[in-house]
Amino acid sequence: MKAVAVFPKSREVRVLEDAPEPRLRSATEVRVRTLEVGVCGTDKEIADFRYGTPPEGEDFLIVGHEALGEVVEVGEHVQGLKPGDLVVPRVRRPCPHERCPACRHGYPDFCVTGDYTERGIQKRHGFCSEYFVEDMAYLHRVPATLRQVAVLTEPLTIAEKALREVEHLQERLPWDLKPGRAVVLGAGPVGLLGAMALLRAGYSTTVYSRTPKPNEKAEAAELLGAPYLSSQQVPVEELARRVGPVDLVYEAAGASKAAFELLRVLGPNGVFIFTGVPGRKQPLELEGAALLKQLVLKNQLVLGTVNAADMDFDAALEDLALFQARWPGRVERLVTARHPPEDFQKVVSGKLGGIKHVITFG
Ligand code: BGC
Repeated sequence: MKAVAVFPKSREVRVLEDAPEPRLRSATEVRVRTLEVGVCGTDKEIADFRYGTPPEGEDFLIVGHEALGEVVEVGEHVQGLKPGDLVVPRVRRPCPHERCPACRHGYPDFCVTGDYTERGIQKRHGFCSEYFVEDMAYLHRVPATLRQVAVLTEPLTIAEKALREVEHLQERLPWDLKPGRAVVLGAGPVGLLGAMALLRAGYSTTVYSRTPKPNEKAEAAELLGAPYLSSQQVPVEELARRVGPVDLVYEAAGASKAAFELLRVLGPNGVFIFTGVPGRKQPLELEGAALLKQLVLKNQLVLGTVNAADMDFDAALEDLALFQARWPGRVERLVTARHPPEDFQKVVSGKLGGIKHVITFG
Protein backbone atom coordinates (compact mmCIF):
# COMPACT_ATOMS: atom_id res chain seq x y z
CA MET A 1 0.00 0.00 0.00
CA LYS A 2 0.93 3.64 -0.31
CA ALA A 3 2.42 5.36 2.76
CA VAL A 4 4.30 8.57 3.52
CA ALA A 5 7.47 7.90 5.50
CA VAL A 6 10.53 9.68 6.81
CA PHE A 7 13.98 8.04 6.88
CA PRO A 8 15.89 10.00 9.53
CA LYS A 9 19.31 8.39 8.92
CA SER A 10 19.38 9.11 5.21
CA ARG A 11 17.31 12.30 5.74
CA GLU A 12 14.69 11.37 3.18
CA VAL A 13 10.93 11.87 3.00
CA ARG A 14 9.40 9.35 0.60
CA VAL A 15 6.07 8.03 -0.59
CA LEU A 16 6.35 4.24 -0.30
CA GLU A 17 4.32 2.40 -2.94
CA ASP A 18 4.66 -1.05 -1.40
CA ALA A 19 4.49 -0.63 2.39
CA PRO A 20 3.14 -3.87 3.90
CA GLU A 21 -0.62 -3.73 4.41
CA PRO A 22 -1.40 -4.10 8.11
CA ARG A 23 -3.56 -7.08 9.14
CA LEU A 24 -5.60 -7.79 12.26
CA ARG A 25 -3.43 -9.47 14.88
CA SER A 26 -5.96 -9.69 17.69
CA ALA A 27 -9.69 -10.09 18.14
CA THR A 28 -10.11 -6.51 19.39
CA GLU A 29 -8.37 -4.85 16.46
CA VAL A 30 -9.97 -2.91 13.64
CA ARG A 31 -8.71 -2.39 10.09
CA VAL A 32 -9.33 1.12 8.85
CA ARG A 33 -9.15 2.64 5.37
CA THR A 34 -7.57 6.05 5.75
CA LEU A 35 -9.62 8.94 4.38
CA GLU A 36 -7.75 12.01 5.58
CA VAL A 37 -4.65 12.90 7.57
CA GLY A 38 -4.02 16.41 8.87
CA VAL A 39 -0.53 17.88 8.68
CA CYS A 40 0.70 20.01 11.60
CA GLY A 41 3.79 21.70 13.02
CA THR A 42 4.93 18.44 14.58
CA ASP A 43 4.96 16.82 11.12
CA LYS A 44 7.09 19.71 9.87
CA GLU A 45 9.61 19.04 12.65
CA ILE A 46 9.55 15.31 11.83
CA ALA A 47 10.05 15.95 8.12
CA ASP A 48 12.96 18.18 9.09
CA PHE A 49 14.44 15.26 11.11
CA ARG A 50 14.37 17.32 14.31
CA TYR A 51 11.71 15.22 16.04
CA GLY A 52 10.15 11.77 15.78
CA THR A 53 11.64 8.26 16.04
CA PRO A 54 11.01 5.16 13.87
CA PRO A 55 9.78 1.95 15.52
CA GLU A 56 12.55 -0.10 17.13
CA GLY A 57 14.66 -1.93 14.53
CA GLU A 58 13.24 0.00 11.55
CA ASP A 59 14.83 2.77 9.57
CA PHE A 60 11.66 4.65 8.66
CA LEU A 61 8.59 6.12 10.35
CA ILE A 62 5.23 6.31 8.61
CA VAL A 63 4.03 9.80 9.55
CA GLY A 64 0.54 11.10 10.37
CA HIS A 65 -1.21 11.40 13.71
CA GLU A 66 -4.36 13.41 12.89
CA ALA A 67 -6.51 10.91 11.05
CA LEU A 68 -10.00 10.13 9.92
CA GLY A 69 -10.79 6.73 8.45
CA GLU A 70 -13.50 4.24 7.58
CA VAL A 71 -13.71 0.84 9.26
CA VAL A 72 -13.25 -2.01 6.76
CA GLU A 73 -12.79 -5.04 9.02
CA VAL A 74 -13.32 -5.78 12.71
CA GLY A 75 -11.88 -8.52 14.93
CA GLU A 76 -14.37 -10.96 16.45
CA HIS A 77 -14.43 -9.29 19.87
CA VAL A 78 -14.81 -5.74 18.61
CA GLN A 79 -17.84 -4.00 20.03
CA GLY A 80 -19.52 -0.79 18.93
CA LEU A 81 -17.79 -0.55 15.54
CA LYS A 82 -18.67 -2.08 12.18
CA PRO A 83 -17.49 -1.78 8.59
CA GLY A 84 -18.55 1.55 7.11
CA ASP A 85 -18.27 3.46 10.41
CA LEU A 86 -16.10 6.56 10.47
CA VAL A 87 -13.42 6.65 13.18
CA VAL A 88 -10.64 8.87 14.54
CA PRO A 89 -7.72 7.26 16.40
CA ARG A 90 -5.93 8.57 19.48
CA VAL A 91 -2.20 9.17 19.22
CA ARG A 92 -0.37 8.09 22.37
CA ARG A 93 0.07 4.56 23.73
CA PRO A 94 1.14 3.76 27.31
CA CYS A 95 4.67 2.95 28.45
CA PRO A 96 5.27 -0.61 29.69
CA HIS A 97 6.42 0.25 33.22
CA GLU A 98 4.54 -0.87 36.32
CA ARG A 99 5.78 2.20 38.15
CA CYS A 100 4.00 4.67 35.82
CA PRO A 101 0.74 5.54 37.55
CA ALA A 102 -0.47 7.59 34.59
CA CYS A 103 -0.08 4.84 32.00
CA ARG A 104 -1.38 2.16 34.37
CA HIS A 105 -4.52 4.23 34.93
CA GLY A 106 -5.20 4.83 31.23
CA TYR A 107 -3.70 8.32 31.01
CA PRO A 108 -0.57 7.96 28.86
CA ASP A 109 -0.89 11.68 28.11
CA PHE A 110 0.53 12.13 31.64
CA CYS A 111 3.20 9.38 31.31
CA VAL A 112 5.98 9.89 33.87
CA THR A 113 8.68 7.66 32.37
CA GLY A 114 8.81 9.18 28.89
CA ASP A 115 8.71 5.68 27.40
CA TYR A 116 5.27 6.18 25.85
CA THR A 117 4.92 5.73 22.11
CA GLU A 118 2.96 7.92 19.69
CA ARG A 119 1.57 6.90 16.33
CA GLY A 120 3.29 8.78 13.55
CA ILE A 121 5.64 10.48 16.03
CA GLN A 122 7.43 8.26 18.55
CA LYS A 123 8.37 4.65 17.72
CA ARG A 124 5.05 3.69 16.14
CA HIS A 125 4.01 4.03 12.53
CA GLY A 126 1.37 6.66 11.91
CA PHE A 127 -1.78 6.86 9.86
CA CYS A 128 -0.52 8.44 6.62
CA SER A 129 -1.00 5.22 4.66
CA GLU A 130 -3.89 3.69 2.74
CA TYR A 131 -4.81 1.44 5.67
CA PHE A 132 -4.02 1.21 9.36
CA VAL A 133 -4.89 -1.23 12.12
CA GLU A 134 -5.74 -0.12 15.62
CA ASP A 135 -7.19 -1.63 18.75
CA MET A 136 -10.82 -0.64 19.30
CA ALA A 137 -9.78 0.90 22.64
CA TYR A 138 -8.02 3.71 20.76
CA LEU A 139 -10.72 4.47 18.20
CA HIS A 140 -13.61 6.93 18.45
CA ARG A 141 -16.67 6.55 16.29
CA VAL A 142 -17.50 9.67 14.30
CA PRO A 143 -21.04 10.65 13.31
CA ALA A 144 -21.43 10.79 9.51
CA THR A 145 -22.44 14.46 9.83
CA LEU A 146 -18.85 15.26 10.85
CA ARG A 147 -17.28 13.68 7.74
CA GLN A 148 -15.94 17.01 6.43
CA VAL A 149 -14.45 18.24 9.72
CA ALA A 150 -13.51 15.20 11.80
CA VAL A 151 -9.89 15.35 10.62
CA LEU A 152 -9.69 18.35 12.99
CA THR A 153 -10.61 16.24 16.02
CA GLU A 154 -7.06 15.56 17.21
CA PRO A 155 -5.84 19.18 17.17
CA LEU A 156 -9.04 20.17 18.98
CA THR A 157 -8.42 17.59 21.71
CA ILE A 158 -5.41 19.66 22.82
CA ALA A 159 -7.79 22.50 23.75
CA GLU A 160 -10.32 20.11 25.27
CA LYS A 161 -7.72 18.68 27.63
CA ALA A 162 -6.39 22.15 28.49
CA LEU A 163 -9.83 23.56 29.31
CA ARG A 164 -10.70 20.49 31.36
CA GLU A 165 -7.50 21.00 33.36
CA VAL A 166 -8.19 24.72 33.82
CA GLU A 167 -11.62 23.94 35.18
CA HIS A 168 -10.07 21.69 37.85
CA LEU A 169 -7.22 24.05 38.64
CA GLN A 170 -9.39 27.12 39.02
CA GLU A 171 -11.47 25.34 41.62
CA ARG A 172 -8.74 26.78 43.84
CA LEU A 173 -10.77 30.02 43.65
CA PRO A 174 -13.62 29.27 46.05
CA TRP A 175 -16.35 31.28 44.35
CA ASP A 176 -18.45 30.84 41.27
CA LEU A 177 -15.85 31.71 38.65
CA LYS A 178 -17.28 32.88 35.33
CA PRO A 179 -15.31 32.35 32.09
CA GLY A 180 -13.46 35.64 31.66
CA ARG A 181 -11.16 37.09 29.03
CA ALA A 182 -8.94 34.81 26.98
CA VAL A 183 -6.13 35.51 24.55
CA VAL A 184 -5.07 32.89 22.03
CA LEU A 185 -1.47 33.25 20.89
CA GLY A 186 -1.18 31.98 17.33
CA ALA A 187 -3.77 31.66 14.59
CA GLY A 188 -2.93 28.26 13.12
CA PRO A 189 -5.37 25.35 13.38
CA VAL A 190 -4.58 24.69 17.07
CA GLY A 191 -5.07 28.38 17.84
CA LEU A 192 -8.28 28.79 15.88
CA LEU A 193 -9.75 25.54 17.20
CA GLY A 194 -8.71 26.68 20.69
CA ALA A 195 -10.48 29.99 20.08
CA MET A 196 -13.63 28.12 19.09
CA ALA A 197 -13.45 25.98 22.24
CA LEU A 198 -12.91 29.07 24.42
CA LEU A 199 -15.78 30.98 22.80
CA ARG A 200 -17.97 27.93 23.21
CA ALA A 201 -17.00 27.77 26.90
CA GLY A 202 -18.07 31.42 27.30
CA TYR A 203 -14.71 33.25 27.28
CA SER A 204 -14.53 36.55 25.45
CA THR A 205 -11.63 35.64 23.22
CA THR A 206 -9.01 37.63 21.30
CA VAL A 207 -6.60 36.06 18.83
CA TYR A 208 -3.08 37.51 18.91
CA SER A 209 -0.74 36.49 16.12
CA ARG A 210 2.18 37.81 14.14
CA THR A 211 0.86 38.60 10.67
CA PRO A 212 -0.84 41.98 10.26
CA LYS A 213 -4.38 42.15 8.93
CA PRO A 214 -5.82 41.53 6.41
CA ASN A 215 -5.03 37.83 6.20
CA GLU A 216 -7.15 34.70 6.07
CA LYS A 217 -6.41 33.61 9.64
CA ALA A 218 -7.48 37.01 10.97
CA GLU A 219 -10.62 36.78 8.89
CA ALA A 220 -11.33 33.28 10.18
CA ALA A 221 -10.92 34.46 13.80
CA GLU A 222 -13.11 37.52 13.38
CA LEU A 223 -15.86 35.58 11.64
CA LEU A 224 -16.06 33.50 14.84
CA GLY A 225 -16.44 36.65 16.91
CA ALA A 226 -12.85 36.78 18.18
CA PRO A 227 -11.06 40.09 17.46
CA TYR A 228 -7.64 39.56 15.83
CA LEU A 229 -4.64 41.68 16.76
CA SER A 230 -1.22 41.48 15.15
CA SER A 231 1.79 41.40 17.49
CA GLN A 232 3.67 43.37 14.82
CA GLN A 233 1.25 46.25 15.24
CA VAL A 234 0.00 45.92 18.82
CA PRO A 235 2.55 45.43 21.63
CA VAL A 236 1.50 43.24 24.56
CA GLU A 237 0.87 46.21 26.89
CA GLU A 238 -1.52 47.72 24.36
CA LEU A 239 -3.18 44.32 23.93
CA ALA A 240 -3.74 44.14 27.70
CA ARG A 241 -5.14 47.68 27.71
CA ARG A 242 -7.60 46.81 24.97
CA VAL A 243 -8.63 43.40 26.32
CA GLY A 244 -8.63 44.15 30.06
CA PRO A 245 -7.20 41.77 32.67
CA VAL A 246 -6.32 38.55 30.84
CA ASP A 247 -7.67 35.53 32.72
CA LEU A 248 -6.39 32.88 30.36
CA VAL A 249 -3.77 32.64 27.63
CA TYR A 250 -3.86 29.69 25.23
CA GLU A 251 -0.43 29.56 23.63
CA ALA A 252 -0.63 27.78 20.29
CA ALA A 253 2.32 29.19 18.37
CA GLY A 254 5.37 27.41 19.76
CA ALA A 255 7.09 30.81 19.70
CA SER A 256 8.90 31.15 23.01
CA LYS A 257 9.77 34.85 22.72
CA ALA A 258 6.21 35.91 21.96
CA ALA A 259 4.91 33.61 24.70
CA PHE A 260 7.12 35.00 27.47
CA GLU A 261 6.29 38.56 26.36
CA LEU A 262 2.63 37.78 26.67
CA LEU A 263 3.10 36.15 30.07
CA ARG A 264 4.03 39.63 31.36
CA VAL A 265 0.46 40.86 30.90
CA LEU A 266 -1.39 37.88 32.37
CA GLY A 267 -3.96 39.17 34.88
CA PRO A 268 -4.54 38.31 38.55
CA ASN A 269 -5.31 34.62 39.25
CA GLY A 270 -4.79 33.99 35.53
CA VAL A 271 -3.68 30.79 33.78
CA PHE A 272 -1.13 30.65 30.99
CA ILE A 273 -1.41 27.45 28.98
CA PHE A 274 1.52 26.33 26.83
CA THR A 275 0.73 23.86 24.03
CA GLY A 276 3.49 24.51 21.47
CA VAL A 277 6.45 22.17 21.08
CA PRO A 278 9.07 24.42 19.49
CA GLY A 279 12.25 23.22 17.86
CA ARG A 280 15.59 24.48 19.13
CA LYS A 281 15.86 28.29 18.96
CA GLN A 282 18.21 31.03 20.08
CA PRO A 283 18.44 31.46 23.88
CA LEU A 284 16.12 34.04 25.31
CA GLU A 285 16.80 36.76 27.85
CA LEU A 286 14.09 37.16 30.47
CA GLU A 287 13.49 39.53 33.34
CA GLY A 288 13.40 36.57 35.69
CA ALA A 289 12.98 38.41 38.98
CA ALA A 290 10.13 40.58 37.70
CA LEU A 291 8.44 37.51 36.26
CA LEU A 292 8.73 35.52 39.51
CA LYS A 293 7.39 38.46 41.48
CA GLN A 294 4.46 38.79 39.12
CA LEU A 295 3.64 35.05 39.20
CA VAL A 296 3.66 35.07 42.99
CA LEU A 297 1.92 38.37 43.69
CA LYS A 298 -0.78 37.64 41.13
CA ASN A 299 -1.37 33.98 42.08
CA GLN A 300 -0.77 32.90 38.50
CA LEU A 301 -0.66 29.43 37.03
CA VAL A 302 1.62 28.37 34.19
CA LEU A 303 0.47 25.12 32.67
CA GLY A 304 2.10 22.97 30.03
CA THR A 305 -0.21 20.44 28.43
CA VAL A 306 0.37 17.77 25.81
CA ASN A 307 -1.66 15.15 24.03
CA ALA A 308 -5.14 14.20 25.22
CA ALA A 309 -7.17 11.49 26.89
CA ASP A 310 -10.05 9.32 25.79
CA MET A 311 -12.65 11.78 27.16
CA ASP A 312 -11.04 14.70 25.32
CA PHE A 313 -11.67 12.95 22.00
CA ASP A 314 -15.31 12.46 22.94
CA ALA A 315 -15.53 16.13 23.98
CA ALA A 316 -13.87 17.26 20.73
CA LEU A 317 -16.35 15.31 18.61
CA GLU A 318 -19.24 16.82 20.55
CA ASP A 319 -17.75 20.28 20.19
CA LEU A 320 -17.21 19.92 16.43
CA ALA A 321 -20.95 19.36 16.10
CA LEU A 322 -21.66 22.39 18.30
CA PHE A 323 -19.22 24.51 16.30
CA GLN A 324 -20.91 23.50 13.05
CA ALA A 325 -24.25 24.61 14.46
CA ARG A 326 -22.90 27.88 15.86
CA TRP A 327 -20.68 28.86 12.91
CA PRO A 328 -22.13 27.17 9.82
CA GLY A 329 -19.45 26.53 7.19
CA ARG A 330 -16.63 27.95 9.35
CA VAL A 331 -15.13 24.72 10.68
CA GLU A 332 -14.96 23.30 7.15
CA ARG A 333 -13.13 26.43 6.05
CA LEU A 334 -10.26 25.71 8.45
CA VAL A 335 -9.21 23.04 5.96
CA THR A 336 -7.49 25.12 3.29
CA ALA A 337 -6.77 22.30 0.84
CA ARG A 338 -6.67 18.54 0.43
CA HIS A 339 -3.69 16.94 -1.29
CA PRO A 340 -2.53 13.53 -2.56
CA PRO A 341 0.20 11.80 -0.48
CA GLU A 342 2.78 12.75 -3.11
CA ASP A 343 2.35 16.39 -2.00
CA PHE A 344 3.35 15.75 1.62
CA GLN A 345 6.76 17.36 1.23
CA LYS A 346 5.28 20.43 -0.45
CA VAL A 347 2.77 20.71 2.41
CA VAL A 348 5.37 20.46 5.18
CA SER A 349 7.58 23.01 3.44
CA GLY A 350 5.20 25.58 4.96
CA LYS A 351 5.17 27.60 1.75
CA LEU A 352 1.56 26.94 0.84
CA GLY A 353 0.01 29.40 3.29
CA GLY A 354 -3.55 28.87 4.47
CA ILE A 355 -4.67 27.19 7.67
CA LYS A 356 -4.90 23.37 7.71
CA HIS A 357 -3.61 21.17 4.92
CA VAL A 358 -4.81 17.60 4.70
CA ILE A 359 -3.55 14.51 2.85
CA THR A 360 -6.28 12.33 1.35
CA PHE A 361 -6.23 8.72 0.22
CA GLY A 362 -8.40 6.93 -2.29
C1 BGC B 1 0.36 15.95 18.91
C2 BGC B 1 0.25 15.25 20.25
C3 BGC B 1 1.61 14.76 20.68
C4 BGC B 1 2.60 15.90 20.67
C5 BGC B 1 3.98 15.51 21.15
C6 BGC B 1 1.44 17.00 18.94
O1 BGC B 1 1.58 17.54 17.66
O2 BGC B 1 -0.86 16.56 18.58
O3 BGC B 1 -0.67 14.20 20.15
O4 BGC B 1 1.50 14.19 21.96
O5 BGC B 1 2.67 16.45 19.38
O6 BGC B 1 4.60 14.53 20.37
